Amino acid sequence: MSKNSIEKIFFEKNGFIKLNIKIKSKNFDKLCDEIIEETNEFYLKNFDKIKKLGGYLTGNLELLPSKKLIHIWKILCNRSFKKTFKDIFGKKISDFDVKFSGNIVLPKKGYQHFHTDGPLRSKKIILNVAIHDIDTSNAPTEILINTHNRKMKYWEFYFLEFFKNKKRKLLKMQKGEVVIRNHSIWHRGTRNNSKNLRILLLFQLTEKKLHNKFTQIINKDLMIGENQFKSSFKQNLKESISIYLAPLYIFYRIITSFFKK
Ligand SMILES: [Fe+2]
Repeated sequence: MSKNSIEKIFFEKNGFIKLNIKIKSKNFDKLCDEIIEETNEFYLKNFDKIKKLGGYLTGNLELLPSKKLIHIWKILCNRSFKKTFKDIFGKKISDFDVKFSGNIVLPKKGYQHFHTDGPLRSKKIILNVAIHDIDTSNAPTEILINTHNRKMKYWEFYFLEFFKNKKRKLLKMQKGEVVIRNHSIWHRGTRNNSKNLRILLLFQLTEKKLHNKFTQIINKDLMIGENQFKSSFKQNLKESISIYLAPLYIFYRIITSFFKK
């Protein structure tokens, strides 16, 4: 059995995989430093606006792309990565559109509730590239292994999986490492106990033939935007409840999930 078929089996069984590839180059290092510096600069300069964004209370925000993220993608897409990707998914990387972004976790914040990244039918592939080390101190993503590709309502997840699933995993990453996960795997952001922003690049891949009319705005400079929660009053209220009245929020999700199709 070849190495790559083992990777495919691992991904399909567990819903995620950390690749054997690690990006190492001067160009990559330079881009990482620039992205970290620019993001911090934007954060400090625009703090008053950022405080009003959906996701600020939780501490989870989105990094909106500039061309620098496309450069990182191009560095990643060498022959060896393309081969590994094809071995896992049976499709070429060029068959996919790529949405460039990043996930930012603010210092001393970031604890999320478990969720999936969209409905099962949307069939997205989430690919993370670490531009700095991520360990237990600075908000590794926590996943519940083998909870992907199943149509599961929140109450089913909560009672059938959350309590009995012992296979929780914190995705620690070193700079240059790549993790791919199925978008439907249950996961959450954990708390960033460090004093620095945790910045993790996120490339969302959607198959061209399944999603037509793909567009994305690429800004001149990197910016920070809202994330899971939007910035409306209703969403702000929901976010506040999810943090300050977490048991009530879970109860609300369980009840409403009974009625969801
Ligand atoms: Fe997520």
